[in-house]
Amino acid sequence: MKLKPLQIGDLTVRYPIIQGGMGVGISRSRLAGAVAGAGGIGVISSAQIGYDEPGFEQDPWKTNLEALAKHIRIAKEAGSGGGGAVGVNIMTATSNYENNVKASCEAGADVIISGAGLPVMLPKYTALYPRVKIAPIVSSAKAASVILKMWDKKFGRTADFLVVEGPKAGGHLGFAKDEVLAITDSAYDAEIQRIIAVAGDYAARYGHQIPVIAAGGISTHEDVCHALSLGASGIQAATPFVVTEECDADIRYKQAYLDASEEDVRIVDSPVGMPGRALHNAFLDEVASGRQPIGKCLRCLQKCDQEKIPYCITKALINAVKGDVEHGLIFCGANVGRLKKMTTVPELMKELAGESTNM
Ligand SMILES: Cc1cc2nc3c(=O)[nH]c(=O)nc-3n(C[C@H](O)[C@H](O)[C@H](O)COP(=O)(O)O)c2cc1C
Repeated sequence: MKLKPLQIGDLTVRYPIIQGGMGVGISRSRLAGAVAGAGGIGVISSAQIGYDEPGFEQDPWKTNLEALAKHIRIAKEAGSGGGGAVGVNIMTATSNYENNVKASCEAGADVIISGAGLPVMLPKYTALYPRVKIAPIVSSAKAASVILKMWDKKFGRTADFLVVEGPKAGGHLGFAKDEVLAITDSAYDAEIQRIIAVAGDYAARYGHQIPVIAAGGISTHEDVCHALSLGASGIQAATPFVVTEECDADIRYKQAYLDASEEDVRIVDSPVGMPGRALHNAFLDEVASGRQPIGKCLRCLQKCDQEKIPYCITKALINAVKGDVEHGLIFCGANVGRLKKMTTVPELMKELAGESTNM
């Protein structure tokens, strides 16, 4: 099936494919720029993006803001002419949220996607930049209704698009721990359709489309077609983009994905207060055996009780992105076991779009 471009207001993206933001260095300018260049929306994650910059330990907030602007500019330049766009994923739960949103708009981001909590204030922080498209991440029709109602009441505006993250996604999940594995594919397909109906109500009220983007466990052209058949306008995928040459993670991180099978995937507790999905390794065993030493706080979360958290998430994710795959937290999607070879962004984009000659 030939995919239609994704239309978000006046922004046209050649392929309806978004590469999901992956925090603490996994999706920065190299990956996002390549995706934009290949005609999709490449998404940089703002979370501790400056982890390897000088000055990070002394002043993480300032260093992150500078690194964020730098990576957006590099990705925009790398992606220019490819028919795609550059987005930033900014988690609501992270500290310095408002400044990260404003810095992203200022540096030229086309799109801001925000989850890990409901991004209630996002329209206010982007108000001076009407060019920038904004999208909340939701996992249920209830959450979609709540955030769209809030934006409507508080700001008299609605979302430019919605990202729906299902139970098979990687990273933090918008479900209770016991729900994640219990929800069936067909039950979640029905939930996606309810979310599309909620978006349709607001689209009618505001007189413009609100495309709904399905995410979680999508790794083949058939998966993409299935999401579109439900009424989604596009898809977001993250896990398959990790095993590309262009992904910003260390090669050992990518190899951990290639070596993984379905049985290696675990649902874990996180200091963010939501369950997460990650690969089993020595780090998860250490966490299971007791609280890990926290060390210096790099102020990544708005709310973090250092006396209670099981481990420091920044430290765990920095270890992972740098390639210490036994002592880091390796977030991944449920379908990581399907990935068996390294690829490149243009090749993966063609595969998802059903245009690959290697299929
Ligand atoms: C390694 C990794 C890191 C992620 N980090 C973030 C993040 O920082 N913020 C966020 O909103 N989502 C994050 N996600 C979720 C993705 O953006 C995406 O929506 C989800 O993983 C889609 O499912 P898939 O991985 O099965 O394609 C992450 C996912 C992975 C695999």
